[in-house]
Amino acid sequence: MELKNKVALVTGGSSGIGAETAKILSKNGCKVVVGYNRGEKRAKNLIKKLYNNGHNIVKIDLRDQNCSEVAKKFIKKTYGKLDYLINSAGYTEPINHADISSLTPEKFNMIININTGGTYSIIRTFVPLLNLSKSATIVNVSSVSAFTGSGSNIAYCAAKAAIDTMTISLARALGPKIRLLSVSPAAVATNFVEGRTFENLKNIAKKTPLKKVIKPKDVSLAILACLTHLKSSTGTRIIVDGGHHIK
Ligand SMILES: NC(=O)c1ccc[n+]([C@@H]2O[C@H](COP(=O)([O-])OP(=O)(O)OC[C@H]3O[C@@H](n4cnc5c(N)ncnc54)[C@H](OP(=O)(O)O)[C@@H]3O)[C@@H](O)[C@H]2O)c1
Repeated sequence: MELKNKVALVTGGSSGIGAETAKILSKNGCKVVVGYNRGEKRAKNLIKKLYNNGHNIVKIDLRDQNCSEVAKKFIKKTYGKLDYLINSAGYTEPINHADISSLTPEKFNMIININTGGTYSIIRTFVPLLNLSKSATIVNVSSVSAFTGSGSNIAYCAAKAAIDTMTISLARALGPKIRLLSVSPAAVATNFVEGRTFENLKNIAKKTPLKKVIKPKDVSLAILACLTHLKSSTGTRIIVDGGHHIK
């Protein structure tokens, strides 16, 4: 119960890594606001399964700043503060890196805008509320794609690299009140990448030093550690990939 009575907003909390993070934070005493986009029903079901009480859901659409403003008002009115912002929401689609005809400039910008612009906009909205907390921390769920340049498509890799750079800049600008960290997984067992099967993930894992498929829980534990143990860390990334990036 290390996080007793802390308040966390988890964007992309309706599934995968975000949902697992909501669970582990609630188990540790946090009141969790689960952000959803299309998964309202999933988010509603999830908060019934969380530990302890005081949890809520809010609509957060990375493409719509107004959503975050409404969510901020709700969180301020309900809890009066926000201690942790976990940005797990993200979007991608599989496009072979050699297929540059399919990755049009419009699509490239759309992927950057959703992932990087959307994450920036959410952070910007919640900074005033986070500034009221004595343990304010922002964790951006990034990816090893940011520095390996390998991932579901070129724009996604660039978007995650931009998130990592933004994490460094904001950590410098917003400290000492707010810490920022990236948590960077690779190939996690969720439905994030359309068409990717568990079999595919097992084959990817075989080539890594730890030879294990990374589960949402592995990433959520790293996010928890950022809040509970890595209190002297800011502006850096925690890699959770079984050694994928050094394979
Ligand atoms: N799975 C991997 O292999 C992997 C590897 C490295 C990094 N990551 C990162 O991990 C994060 C979580 O992904 P996941 O693996 O947990 O996949 P996931 O289960 O598909 O979760 C993605 C989440 O993002 C939300 N989302 C999508 N578009 C959105 C939008 N426009 N506005 C707001 N929310 C939106 C979804 O919400 P709704 O369902 O409610 O629409 C969903 O909750 C992402 O940032 C991803 O880049 C994943």
